[in-house]
Amino acid sequence: MAQLKLFKRPIISLKADGVAILIGDNRQLTPSGSQVDGIVRGRIARTLREEDFRVKAGNIMVFYSREMNFKKVFCAALFGSDRLASLREAAYSAVRAAKKKGVRKLALAFDPSNADEIQAIGEGALLATYRFERFKSKKESRDSLGTIIVCSAIGNSEPLKKAEIYFRAAQIVRDLVNEPAGSLRPPQLAERAEKTARESKLKCRIFEPAELQRMGATLFLSVGKGSDAPNRMVQLTYEPAGGKPVAHVALIGKGVTFDSGGLSLKNETAMEHMKSDMTGAAVVLACVRGARELKLRVKVTALLMATENMPDGAANRPGDVVRAMNGKTVEITNTDAEGRLALADGLTYAQRLKPDYIIDVSTLTGAQVISLGRLIGAVMGNDESLVQKIVRAGQKSGELMWQLPLHEPYKDLMKSDIADIKNSSGLTEAGSIQGGLFLSEFVDHPRWAHLDVSGPSWQEREWSVYPRASSGFPARCLLTFLSDLN
Ligand code: BES
Ligand code: ZN
Ligand code: ZN
Repeated sequence: MAQLKLFKRPIISLKADGVAILIGDNRQLTPSGSQVDGIVRGRIARTLREEDFRVKAGNIMVFYSREMNFKKVFCAALFGSDRLASLREAAYSAVRAAKKKGVRKLALAFDPSNADEIQAIGEGALLATYRFERFKSKKESRDSLGTIIVCSAIGNSEPLKKAEIYFRAAQIVRDLVNEPAGSLRPPQLAERAEKTARESKLKCRIFEPAELQRMGATLFLSVGKGSDAPNRMVQLTYEPAGGKPVAHVALIGKGVTFDSGGLSLKNETAMEHMKSDMTGAAVVLACVRGARELKLRVKVTALLMATENMPDGAANRPGDVVRAMNGKTVEITNTDAEGRLALADGLTYAQRLKPDYIIDVSTLTGAQVISLGRLIGAVMGNDESLVQKIVRAGQKSGELMWQLPLHEPYKDLMKSDIADIKNSSGLTEAGSIQGGLFLSEFVDHPRWAHLDVSGPSWQEREWSVYPRASSGFPARCLLTFLSDLN
């Protein structure tokens, strides 16, 4: 990880091989930017005007100089009304540009005005250093940007510590999701969770199929029947030291290590990145670890529902009826709607732990990608105040969440002729809501939220603060939610 450091003195007293400054909506400079411009007798402001720099997300202009401590100046755009998001993106873009130019020590002179802004700058910068290089013969990160200096006349390095923790959460998710499904099957995912638990001193319990069978988690087990890798349910717990926790939050993550669709087989394009179908599990793992790093006063239980959805002679057949852990029978009309089967039993188990809040995280429906795209997740739930807390955490973290209604009449779509409920209506209308309503059949708890992040968890292009492939979404949103309960 690149090192983040705070620098409190004026920018002109710093030596680095690159510095980034901000260009506001009207092309104005911040005080630090003006200082840098002053040294070069206004050449930056002049060049900006002449070059017709457009102030919009991701735009960077590079300015070369021999007159100062910095050889390269990166001008990043500060745009729009959401300052935190804009600072985060400006830091991300500046770091990406600096890395391309071989800068090893970069200063970000953005003049933040409070702790949240310092954190946002640190986060954006670190998010930009991420590379998944496990399988690359030549590791790019070895010879690149090692130190990032965040300049701020105010505050201390506390927000940068937080930025590191939030980044680590995203990094854990990105690494696990980007790992090919052939080497990260349910038992391996459980081992990785166990390793994290050991390192971070979290309580960890792994449930194997025999025990899950005894508990009646047959709906969850049924998803893995077509795979030769056994299911795992992993329970990780963080309990704050000393004193009663302010709340207990149970997080349940969909951990389908590969979703082929099962016998309702996906086609090759739909299957292409289905190694990402365990994003929810990776997110809840990253969050329980993050809660501990942040020393939150919230108790967090993470449940990883790890299974692999494959076609085989033993797999669920469309039309099969399976009993869930809460006793309800489910007709599996479509084996590709497997996430809701895994989560249903996870929800039943979570309720037995009597938490104050229950939140499930999943890549549940393709419809979510269609409705909200790749920068916004969907949140549904039975408690408006919980949903709003998550929406607010989304705004603050930049991982936006938008509420969809759990419209009761749509429950009709999930009626089965032969069982209590079916897992798919066969109709694509309101697909994400149908997923949420199916899950609601397994929830008696008054404070439950369901996060469907199929779109934003995976990026087809590099934009915002995300590289291609796994984004880490919504780990930073959920950590913010947990922090704000504190
Ligand atoms: N894992 C998929 C959802 C998904 C699709 C995530 C695209 C990310 C990108 C899920 O298991 C699935 O296949 N859902 C079906 C449900 C349908 C059969 C009711 C879908 O969305 O098509
Ligand atoms: Zn599926
Ligand atoms: Zn799936």
